[in-house]
This record gives sequence, structure tokens and C-alpha cells, in this order.
Amino acid sequence: MMLLVICLAVFIATVDSANDAVAFTKGLASHSHLTKGEIIPFDRNITIINAVFTSDGKFQVQTPGIYSFHFHALSRNDEEIWMDLYKNKEYIVSIYASTYNDWADGGNTVILELQKGDLIFVKAVDDYNNWIYGAADEVYTTFSGELVVPETTAASSDKVAFCVSLTHNMTLNGDRVIYDKIFTNVGNGYNANTGVFTVSVPGLYMIHYHALAELGETMWLDLYHNDKYINSAFGAAPSTYADHGNSAILDLHAGDKVSVNGKPGNTVIIYGDASDEQLYATFSAFLISPALHGAPASVGTNRQVPAFSVGLTRDVDSTQTGLATNNVIFDRVWTNQGGVFNMATGVFTAKIHGVYVFHYHALSDKNTEVLIDLYHKDQYIDSLYGHHTNGWAGGSNSATLELSVDDTVHLDMAVNTTTAMSGDPNDIYTTFSGYLLSPITN
Ligand SMILES: *[C@@H]1O[C@H](CO)[C@@H](O)[C@H](O)[C@H]1NC(C)=O
Ligand SMILES: *[C@@H]1O[C@H](CO)[C@@H](O)[C@H](O)[C@H]1NC(C)=O
Ligand SMILES: *[C@@H]1O[C@H](CO)[C@@H](O)[C@H](O)[C@H]1NC(C)=O
Repeated sequence: MMLLVICLAVFIATVDSANDAVAFTKGLASHSHLTKGEIIPFDRNITIINAVFTSDGKFQVQTPGIYSFHFHALSRNDEEIWMDLYKNKEYIVSIYASTYNDWADGGNTVILELQKGDLIFVKAVDDYNNWIYGAADEVYTTFSGELVVPETTAASSDKVAFCVSLTHNMTLNGDRVIYDKIFTNVGNGYNANTGVFTVSVPGLYMIHYHALAELGETMWLDLYHNDKYINSAFGAAPSTYADHGNSAILDLHAGDKVSVNGKPGNTVIIYGDASDEQLYATFSAFLISPALHGAPASVGTNRQVPAFSVGLTRDVDSTQTGLATNNVIFDRVWTNQGGVFNMATGVFTAKIHGVYVFHYHALSDKNTEVLIDLYHKDQYIDSLYGHHTNGWAGGSNSATLELSVDDTVHLDMAVNTTTAMSGDPNDIYTTFSGYLLSPITN
């Protein structure tokens, strides 16, 4: 009898938690040359949790709901990458990267409401030379996805998500980006006339933005929470198109406004052209968990989702300072719910067994390179890279990971190599964010 009760309890716990999570990260651990619009041939399964793929490499939705997808890639030296994310036969958004005589990084994020059977995949642009960088210990090219709000979520007020893009080129002189193409607007928080997301449900939000500069122009964007500066993305390269993006997790109150603006005092020109499948500029967010503010005590700590979001407000030169640690040490905290991120050591520690999502971004210092690796304990996961011989260059990457209690995650900047990062209190590019997607209780 006792045994039966225990078995039943384990069974229920599993159904309630682990079986609900859907998350994956695939990586490219070898160079790839694609010419005919092939689906990216990811050859490393970093994480696969209840994620189903077709034999030709498309993610196939089994559980309807709101999903977030992230794709990143690095070109080979002096070559290009140009990739599109598709939903079934529908073009969604692209990434592009190329820098003369250099490696170039591109990335993007979308949030989509999907039905069972929908197919999501990243493919090379048709009839285009894609030279993608990949090595066993240098995985820059990744594709991640996670179910962020299942359709079955009981309270419809807990469902808030938007994802928007820009269908035309836009010149900014410190003004706001008015994204005009709406992919997702669950809860109607995003206003396409003003470009502003207004919070109706208070809580913890995951926010992303990415953009590509027009040819030879500067892309320089700032994320704002009301009138408060959060962080930036920057890209500028002569004779090409420069890409960058950033993320943050913010604790937002009802009525708070979130927007993306051009850097004040600068002419910023970002690229978008819906008629030609050239959507690069995106802005998206979703509610990770509703606020505890005013919640009855009985709701308790199980609604307090472990999450952190931190940034770098100073230059870090790993070659000159003789730093004693390889870990990137951050000095700006936007969120550290549950004290999960140790600011002194740069290490995140999981206090709950579960599926977690991580995003990191960086900008090199002038004329230097930035190379950062994401580690789960001592295990290498993936990397970002940015280099510019006459300016600054950015990189980004993401990963979903299953972590056990006390597992750690940190960013390694390869001290005593050549990594140098640019930062200032009003110019924060190097950031690290993570949150618990779903606990696993078995
Ligand atoms: C990755 O997982 C898929 C199933 O989702 C499997 O078909 C494929 O062979 C795996 N690839 C590698 C490189 O292990
Ligand atoms: C938008 O920018 C792209 C990239 O620089 C350029 O090729 C295109 O001509 C521009 N479109 C318009 C309508 O100005
Ligand atoms: C980097 O080099 C300095 C000077 O040689 C040394 O003191 C420091 O321990 C090194 N750091 C690491 C992480 O190897």
C-alpha cells in the first residue's frame, strides 16, 4: 500500500511539472557552407526537453501556447551569414552578418503564439552563400526555443506577450522606434502608434530587442523603463550592415512603460523592408511571472520565480588588469530575485531543479575583440564573439539548460587572451539574464 502511494505521488508530480516544460537548444559544432536555402544542420543537441523535431530538422509544436525562439550565428572570416526564421510557410524574421576581413555575429528573438503541429525552423536564405562558423568548443550558431506560456495557463490575466518588428527603414534622432508589424500582442500591451509597451499585469518580464543598421550606418538603441535607461545595442561598420541586440528581465508595475529609443545625440538608421523579407528589428517581451505585490500569503514563494538580470557599467580589459578570475563580474543589477546571482563571483546557482533560460550579450572595446563562453558547471555550452579592427562589435547568445539543485552557470571571458569589453553607466552592452522556465519536482 505504501509503495502504491509513493508511486502515485511521483507520477502526479511528474505530470504537473517536468512533462509540461518544452525547451531546446541546438548548436553547430562544425563549419557549414550552405548555398541553397538549407535548414541549418545543427549537429549538437545542447538541451532537448519534450521538444519534437521532424526528420528535416523543424521544431514541431505538440503543446499549444506562446513560445519564444532565439537564433544566433557567426560568419566565417570575411564571409556572410543570412538566415530566416520561418513558421510553416510564413517568413517571420532574419539575421544577417558580415564584416570585411573579419567574423561577424547576428542574432534575433521572436515570441509567437502557436498551435499543435506548427513548424518553426531556421534556414539559410535561398541561393545565397552562407559560411557559418562552428567548432567543438566554439558554438556561436544556435537555435533555442521554449514554451513560455502554455495555452492551458489557468488565469488569462497571466498571459502577456508581444513581439513586433519594423517593416521599413527608420532614421532616429534620439526618438522612439515605432515598430509597425505585430506578430504577437497577447494582452494588447503594445501600441503600434506610439511604439510603447504599457504594463497591465505587474510582474517579472523578459524583454528582448535586436536590430540591423542600414548599409554603412550606425545602429544604436537604448531600452527604457519609463524614463529610466536600462541598456543598449550598438552596431556600426563601414560598407556593411551591423547587427546587435540586448535583453533584460525587469520587475514592472501596472502602468509602467517600456520602449526602445535611438541613442540621444546620434543619427541612427535601422533596416527594415517587409516587401523584400528583410525584417531584422524586433522588440518583444513576455510575463515570466505575475507580481507578488498584494498577493495573498497563501500564494507564497512558489510564485517567486528565481531570475536575475545584470549588466556591466565599466570597461573590462582582461589582458591588462591581470584579473584573477575568468568569470565576467557585473556591477549593475536590474533583477536578482531570490538572490540567485552572486555579484562578487559572477556565478548563478540554481536552488530549484528545473529548466532555465539564459541570454547574454556583449560589445567589444574599440579595435579589440570579445569572446565569452557560457558554462554549466565545468561544461562548455556556447559562445559569443565580436571583433572590429576600427570600432566596436557585438555578439549575443542564448541557451536553455536543465539544472539540478546547486548547479552553477557563469560566463567565462578567457582572461589573459584578448577579450576587452566596453561599458559605462549610460552605455551598458554586456549583460547576462536568466530565469527558471519550469521546475522539475521528480
Ligand atoms: C538530436 O536529437 C534529435 C532528436 O530530437 C536526433 O534525431 C538527432 O540525431 C540528435 N542529434 C545529435 C547530433 O545527437
Ligand atoms: C533601406 O535600407 C537598405 C539597406 O541599407 C537599402 O538597401 C534600401 O534601399 C533602403 N530602402 C529605402 C526605401 O530607402
Ligand atoms: C592572468 O595573468 C596574470 C599576470 O600574469 C596572472 O596574475 C593571473 O593569475 C592570470 N589570470 C588567470 C585567470 O589565469
